[in-house]
Amino acid sequence: MSNLAINVADVVKSFPSGDTRTFALKGATLNARFGELMMIVGPSGCGKTTLLSVICGTLQCEEGMLSIFDHDLRKMKDWEITKFRCVNVGFIFQQFNLIPTLTAVENASIPLILNGVPTNKAERRAGEVLAEVGLGDKLHSYPSQLSGGQLQRVAISRALVHEPRLIICDEPTASLDAAAGQKTLDLLKSSALQPDRCVIVVTHDNRIYHFADRIAEMEDGRVIGIYDDPKDYHHA
Ligand SMILES: Nc1ncnc2c1ncn2[C@@H]1O[C@H](COP(=O)(O)OP(=O)(O)O)[C@@H](O)[C@H]1O
Ligand SMILES: [Mg+2]
Repeated sequence: MSNLAINVADVVKSFPSGDTRTFALKGATLNARFGELMMIVGPSGCGKTTLLSVICGTLQCEEGMLSIFDHDLRKMKDWEITKFRCVNVGFIFQQFNLIPTLTAVENASIPLILNGVPTNKAERRAGEVLAEVGLGDKLHSYPSQLSGGQLQRVAISRALVHEPRLIICDEPTASLDAAAGQKTLDLLKSSALQPDRCVIVVTHDNRIYHFADRIAEMEDGRVIGIYDDPKDYHHA
């Protein structure tokens, strides 16, 4: 097995726009190692979310090489990619994306349910994960009854509940105040990051850059720089 969790090279992805196409990725190259938190930074519209979508197989690229845990996503059938994603990927988004009519424990158990785990077992496990992130007394609260930081902790629990090897976070702190943002990254580093896992965080929140093991800088559809030490990344 390769020591790279993610290895993508020269990835091209475009979208139709009127009579032409918008190129969101123009040959993006990136790798991420097991046991590391890789941050992807860059201005709005440079292709960060598109790159995450290609890595987890929700978007198919037109060109390039794509190896995720030694699986070539480009050679897999749609149902195989869906199954692969269900088992291997946990997602955390800016807007938390919790289901408003489900309680915290019900929301956090969704990935297990999707993987065929019986509801009672799934909710027991989700309750344990919620307790680990400090929400043991909020299991039966609805999203409308929780603060931003608490919502993001439910989202983190949902992302970790099925013990995926890849945790993908798209602007996870953008809706949070500074303290809740720091806490979110603390949790990601302490709970999500394990030697056999990889966490990828897309952000342009410079308050959290120091949590990165490495930073990849994107511009206009490409990765233009990799920083082995986040202190070396001098953002504008
Ligand atoms: N589904 C889509 N349809 C058309 N254009 C898209 C779509 N998704 C992204 N784009 C375009 O691709 C470019 C990169 O977008 P995105 O990956 O969302 O950037 P970022 O996450 O860095 O802000 C932008 O120009 C955006 O408008
Ligand atoms: Mg984005």
